[in-house]
Amino acid sequence: MIHLLYKSSYVFVVFYYVIIPLGYLTKWWVSVEKMKGNSTILVTGGAGYVGSHTVVELLKNNYTVIAIDNNVNCYATGKDKPESLKRVEKITGESVTYYNVDIRDKEALDKVFKLHKIDSVIHFAALKAVGESVQIPLTYYQNNVGGSSTLFEVMAKNGVKKLVFSSSATVYGTPQFLPITEKHPTGQGCTNPYGKTKYFVEEILKDVCTSDSDWKVVLLRYFNPVGAHESGLIGEDPSGIPNNLMPYISQVAVGRREKLQVFGSDYPTVDGTGVRDYIHISDLAIGHLKALERMLQPHYTSWKAYNLGTGRGYSVLEMVKAFSEVSGRQIKYELVERREGDIAACYADASLARAELNWTATRDIKAMCRDTWNWQKKNPKGFQTS
Ligand SMILES: NC(=O)c1ccc[n+]([C@@H]2O[C@H](COP(=O)([O-])OP(=O)(O)OC[C@H]3O[C@@H](n4cnc5c(N)ncnc54)[C@H](O)[C@@H]3O)[C@@H](O)[C@H]2O)c1
Ligand SMILES: *[C@@H]1O[C@H](CO)[C@@H](O)[C@H](O)[C@H]1NC(C)=O
Ligand SMILES: *[C@@H]1O[C@H](CO)[C@@H](O)[C@H](O)[C@H]1NC(C)=O
Repeated sequence: MIHLLYKSSYVFVVFYYVIIPLGYLTKWWVSVEKMKGNSTILVTGGAGYVGSHTVVELLKNNYTVIAIDNNVNCYATGKDKPESLKRVEKITGESVTYYNVDIRDKEALDKVFKLHKIDSVIHFAALKAVGESVQIPLTYYQNNVGGSSTLFEVMAKNGVKKLVFSSSATVYGTPQFLPITEKHPTGQGCTNPYGKTKYFVEEILKDVCTSDSDWKVVLLRYFNPVGAHESGLIGEDPSGIPNNLMPYISQVAVGRREKLQVFGSDYPTVDGTGVRDYIHISDLAIGHLKALERMLQPHYTSWKAYNLGTGRGYSVLEMVKAFSEVSGRQIKYELVERREGDIAACYADASLARAELNWTATRDIKAMCRDTWNWQKKNPKGFQTS
C-alpha cells in the first residue's frame, strides 16, 4: 500500500514538474520554429532602402514575404514591381509577392489581409525627408500618422496584432545624455514634423497596446543606417540631392557631385564635425528578424523599444577619410556654417538589444564604406538602368 502510494505521488511529481513544463516548452519552441520557418510577414514600404534589405534577410530565413509599397520613393516603371524588389529576388532566388498599395487605402489593405494569412507586420512605409517635412507638414502627418493608424485598424480587424515599427533616434530630440539609452525621454525637443510623426506613432502604439493586451509591438529606434547589400545589387537610392552623409559622399566619389559641404566644424567633438552612430544596413535588417522572434517569447510585454546602433560614433571627417581609403578616391569637401537644428553628437547605448534581442552589429565602418562604394560603382544612377 505504502509502496503504491509512493509510486503514485512519484507519477504526480513527474507529471506536474516534468511533463507539463516540457509540454509548455515544446509548444513554445514549436511556435518559434514555425514562426522562423513558414510564417508570412507583411512588409509595408518593402521596396524602400531599409525594407528591401530586410526582405532579403527574411527570405534567407525562410519567411514568406508580402511587400506593399505605393512607389512614392522607390524606382518602378508604372505600377510594375519596383526594381529593388526584382533585385531582391535575384539575390535570394526567391519570389516576393508585391502589391502597389497605399497604406492610407483601407479597402486595398483589407484585400491584402484577406488574400494572405499574415502573421506579423513590419511597418516601414513613411515619408522621411526632414527638410521636406518642414515645408509640407500636413502631407507628412497624413501619410505617416494617418497611414499608420489606418494600417493598425485594418490589422486589428483581421486579427493580426504583431508589429515591428521603424522608429528613429530622432524621437529622443536633443540628447540629454550620451550614449542614449531607451530610457531617455522621447518627444521633447523633436524639432521637425518628420521626427514628430515617429514619436506620435510610438504613442499611438502604446495606447493600442493598453487597450488590447493581444497586441505585441516592438519599436526599433534606428540610428544612422548606411551601406548596402554586399552583392551591390541593392542600396540606398535617394532621388535628387541626398539628405544623408553617406550617399552624398559616395556621389562625390563617383563624380556625380563636385564636393561635400560639412555643416559645422566647431562642435565639441574629436575634430569639430558632427558625430553620429552609423550602422550597416544588413545589421539593421537582421535586427528586425530578431524583433520578430522576441515577440514570440513567453511573457513578452505588450510593447518595447530597442535602439539599433553600434554604440560608437564617427565624425563627418572620419567618415570621409574611411570612404576615401576604401574607394581610393579623393573626396573634396568644404567646411561651412552649422545647420540649424543639428546636434553635436548622437550615439546609442545598444546593450538592451544585445541582452534581449540577441542582436548586435557586426559590420564595421570599413564594411559600411566598402559596400556603399560597391553599390555606387555598379549603379552610378541608382536603380535607374537606362
Ligand atoms: N533611412 C534612415 O536613415 C532612417 C532612419 C530612421 C528611421 N527610418 C525609417 O525607416 C523606414 C524606412 O526608411 P527608408 O530609409 O527605407 O526609406 P525609403 O523611402 O527608402 O522607404 C520607404 C518606402 O515606403 C514607401 N511609402 C511611403 N509612403 C507610403 C504609403 N503611404 N503607402 C505605401 N508605401 C509608402 C516609399 O515608396 C518607400 O519605398 C521609414 O519609416 C523611415 O522613417 C529611416
Ligand atoms: C530554409 O529552408 C531550407 C530548405 O528547406 C533549409 O535547407 C534551410 O536550412 C532553411 N534555413 C533556415 C534559416 O531555416
Ligand atoms: C544568438 O544569436 C547567435 C547568432 O546570431 C546564435 O548562434 C545563438 O544561438 C543565439 N542565441 C540564442 C540564445 O538564441
